[in-house]
Amino acid sequence: MSFPVTRLRRLRKNPILRKMVTETVISRDDLVMPMFVCPGTKVKNPIHSMPGNSQLSVDYLVEECKMLVDKGIKAFLLFGIPDHKDETGEVATHDDAIVQRAIKALKKDIKDIFLIADICNCEYTTHGHCGTIVNGDVDNDLTLETLSQQALSFARVGVDIVAPSDMMDGRVGHMRQTLDKNDFSYMPILAYSAKYASAFYGPFRDAAESAPKFGDRASYQMNSANSDEAMREIALDIEEGADIVMVKPALSYLDIIRRAKDEFNIPIAAYNVSGEFSMVKAAAEKGWIDEKRIVREILTSIKRAGSDIIITYHARDMANWL
Ligand code: PBG
Repeated sequence: MSFPVTRLRRLRKNPILRKMVTETVISRDDLVMPMFVCPGTKVKNPIHSMPGNSQLSVDYLVEECKMLVDKGIKAFLLFGIPDHKDETGEVATHDDAIVQRAIKALKKDIKDIFLIADICNCEYTTHGHCGTIVNGDVDNDLTLETLSQQALSFARVGVDIVAPSDMMDGRVGHMRQTLDKNDFSYMPILAYSAKYASAFYGPFRDAAESAPKFGDRASYQMNSANSDEAMREIALDIEEGADIVMVKPALSYLDIIRRAKDEFNIPIAAYNVSGEFSMVKAAAEKGWIDEKRIVREILTSIKRAGSDIIITYHARDMANWL
């Protein structure tokens, strides 16, 4: 049936009806808030390129998470700024390392909280690369060992999900085996499966002090021109035991999210990364856009594309806007 019998505007006239036929609704339950934890007490170092976000010491982190949990944002992705870095990231495999301390404190003080640990070495290595350097490049198989030890330590201190973001080959399988051998066969893995080498991570690298000291991440993160390769990455991670797969960044990769949703029967997460957040904040500060409407539209489009879980720095504001 076509025009004039069919008139799609009929369903758009009444706001109540418009709501009833809305296909995609964002809720607090979809959102994950990233947090940066640093050593010390009563430390709050604002991250200038990411307005509203700070590196927080454990005491302040607990306060802020408590406030957000009370508003209905219950899931957090944790990143750490360590006391000191080393060559391999081994500092992050100890149960008293910075993120581990944060997990213990958050779990002790907040009942209804869900914690995801990002597993990577770039915040913990002196050179800022995601793994162990041999002859000027990241050695894949050596790196798997530190990553799995990091995951195991997070499991021991009570994290709810481990999320490898390093893009080494075989890391999900290695981690799954290590967890299983150590009685953590119920620890879920959220794999950053299709993680692109992206300029959108710029502000994050200030926040996490994790910019590489030489070269870039193009030898391990994906080429943003590729879509078929993302499907291979996802298929391999599922085969190796991933429970949830992630596409990152989100906005320039909505086609990848949709393709993954159509091709695989597995929950999908999307990471609305730092650069995507900071662009919105900068334009809003200049009065060029309506921030609240833009953020809603962005998050709705990420969910509409097929994402079940959205990791976003806008979660803090959304807690007040939803
Ligand atoms: C660690 C990691 C990065 C991000 C999440 N985990 C940075 C990177 O790969 O350089 C980026 C997140 C963001 O930009 O918000 N490897």
